[in-house]
Amino acid sequence: MNTQFLVNIVYILAAITFILGFKLMSNPLHAKRGNILSAIGMAAAIIATLLLPDIRYLAWVGGGAAVGFAIGALLAYRTPMTGMPQMVGLLNGFGGLASLLVAAAEYNVTTAPSIFHSFIIVLTAFIGAVTFSGSVIAWAKLEERFISGKAVVFKGQQLVNIGILAAILLGSLWFAGAADTEMGMSLFIGVALLSLLMGILLVIPIGGADMPVVICLLNSYSGMAACASGFLINNSLLIVAGALVGASGIILTLIMCKAMNRSVANVFLGGFGSGASGSAADVVGEIKPVSAEDAYLLLEAAASVVFVPGYGMAVSQAQHTVRELAEQLEKNGAEVSFAIHPVAGRMPGHMNVLLAEANVSYDQMVEMDNINPTMPTVDVCMVIGANDVVNPAAEEDKNSPLWGMPIIKSHEARTVIVLKRSMGKGFAGVENPLFFKNNTRMLFGDAKASIQSLVNEFKSAQG
Ligand code: TAP
Repeated sequence: MNTQFLVNIVYILAAITFILGFKLMSNPLHAKRGNILSAIGMAAAIIATLLLPDIRYLAWVGGGAAVGFAIGALLAYRTPMTGMPQMVGLLNGFGGLASLLVAAAEYNVTTAPSIFHSFIIVLTAFIGAVTFSGSVIAWAKLEERFISGKAVVFKGQQLVNIGILAAILLGSLWFAGAADTEMGMSLFIGVALLSLLMGILLVIPIGGADMPVVICLLNSYSGMAACASGFLINNSLLIVAGALVGASGIILTLIMCKAMNRSVANVFLGGFGSGASGSAADVVGEIKPVSAEDAYLLLEAAASVVFVPGYGMAVSQAQHTVRELAEQLEKNGAEVSFAIHPVAGRMPGHMNVLLAEANVSYDQMVEMDNINPTMPTVDVCMVIGANDVVNPAAEEDKNSPLWGMPIIKSHEARTVIVLKRSMGKGFAGVENPLFFKNNTRMLFGDAKASIQSLVNEFKSAQG
């Protein structure tokens, strides 16, 4: 048995761990196991690849891997849960950059490449470069570092994009036919630079609230770029892993668009979340602040309570205190559940992760579509640092930028208690009529501190 054959066996086993890993990740109960399984598969595949006889300069490879490992571990360790989308965005970018470098290296070492091979080289460089620059812009927008999170639009933007895309296409075809001529390198560099510009121009017109969708799409691009580099260097596992990432990224993008009731095209052309002020003029009613003591009385008398967590719960790290309050309510005889909106927080599954960390049972977490029909029978709905995902303007105001986005219908509960620090707006920057409705009470303050006061009220009532 030769080494290549053994390595191929390891690749097949690794591909199986990736697929099983995905399957396990589809449920929060086994997601961690799925992650570990896939990581083991990837580690085995890397070690097996390094054993191949044509792998040289092991010291350089080892040195690069050690530096990359240290940076990656430090980044992951230091990034708070709320910063995960940015980090994922940046990692997608690194994947794209790696593919761009693989394409450049392959071009450098191949003598007289065929037209097809040259085309794959330039295609890999194109997808890699767009993914890299687009991801860096997505990261900067979410971090609000160097550039603001707002959509950047200018006159004739679509025309400029079409022009650059046409130039990339022409340059790529030209390169495919002239890769081994004197023009080859200049054409390669030209296409790579234009592709980097394309990535920037594709992402700048997109507003902050749509950035998670963009990051999922860029994730899919990074998979496609890896898949293309797999074809270039004839590595079957890279093709499989890239295809899995490419396909799952597209599926997640579509799921998120569906959760916002928008098409992918609308996300890329809409400029949603660009800081629109919303239709505050249409908001009627008045704010009714409530004290923790009065909120306690409402909760004490409730037979059913639904918590709707949002980004503010993550900011105040209130999840453990929320679980404590839920236990107090159950002790008091109330039925308690947690309503989960698919885009609550700042990353897919954000609320599930936080609540699971606080040991809230998965049975108590109810998806938006299942909780909504029960809302009119709920005594108290506690909105904890959520805003956009409970904004009734999404179904009441056609002019709202949130129009059409499915929401958790908290406003249909008998009483709504909203926990937030001020009248500050949510991520989409629009006014929320829920706060002004007759059945809504506002409990102002940091969510964790407010919930702690409610827990204390329950405890002191028990004596
Ligand atoms: P948001 O609409 O962002 O509202 C969060 C609210 O939390 C704010 O109004 C803020 O009000 C309040 N808050 C912040 N810190 C708080 C604290 N310490 N204590 C109490 N309240 C606090 O959140 P959401 O309803 O979860 O909606 C998510 C939004 O983000 C959507 O527009 C979604 O499209 C977008 N988004 C989602 C994702 C994913 S994938 N989940 C990723 C990026 C963006 P105050 O300032 O008044 O306290």
